[in-house]
Amino acid sequence: MKNIDRLFVLTGLLFLLIGMTLGLKMSMTRDFAMHGLHAHLNLLGFVVMTLFGLCYRAWPKMQEGSLAKLHYLVHTITVAGALTLLYFVLTDMELAPRIGPVMDMLLVGTVASVVLFAYLFFTRTKD
Ligand code: HEM
Ligand code: HEM
Repeated sequence: MKNIDRLFVLTGLLFLLIGMTLGLKMSMTRDFAMHGLHAHLNLLGFVVMTLFGLCYRAWPKMQEGSLAKLHYLVHTITVAGALTLLYFVLTDMELAPRIGPVMDMLLVGTVASVVLFAYLFFTRTKD
């Protein structure tokens, strides 16, 4: 899919804005309970998605066909979903037994999306 590189960076920026706002809130309230959520919004959200975007830009063949779009959708939906559930788990630990397994399933999806990216990278970046 054309422009998937830009879409990855734009979505990453959205994660960064949310992650930094949360960091600012933690700083101002001196309550650091959400540090894990903050770290993964910024790293799994912004840093990793921006690196994906830059790779798609550097090796445009990776964008051909529909696998890049599938990678984008699976990564974005599973990371956004898992981190939303993590917010609720960190807010109320009693929710953990119920929503924890759903969060884990979503994270397996995130790993699967990285496997798909690795496949695209290894098969389409040879000059
Ligand atoms: C406005 C910007 C930011 C603010 C105000 C902020 C604030 C914070 C605060 C208050 C903590 C908790 C510290 C603690 O638990 O001792 C933290 C942890 C962390 N931040 Fe940020 N942060 C910002 C941006 C970023 C960015 C851009 C990244 C990564 C790209 C990042 C990565 C991390 C990581 C990995 C941790 C966890 C460190 C640990 O648990 O030891 N932060 N941040
Ligand atoms: C499916 C993907 C991932 C899962 C399931 C995962 C899971 C975890 C877990 C369970 C912790 C321990 C949290 C705690 O002790 O409170 C952790 C910590 C951490 N992870 Fe990840 N992680 C993932 C991806 C990543 C990636 C891609 C990065 C960096 C690019 C990263 C960076 C970190 C850092 C810096 C910490 C320590 C910071 C902290 O405790 O707040 N993680 N991760």
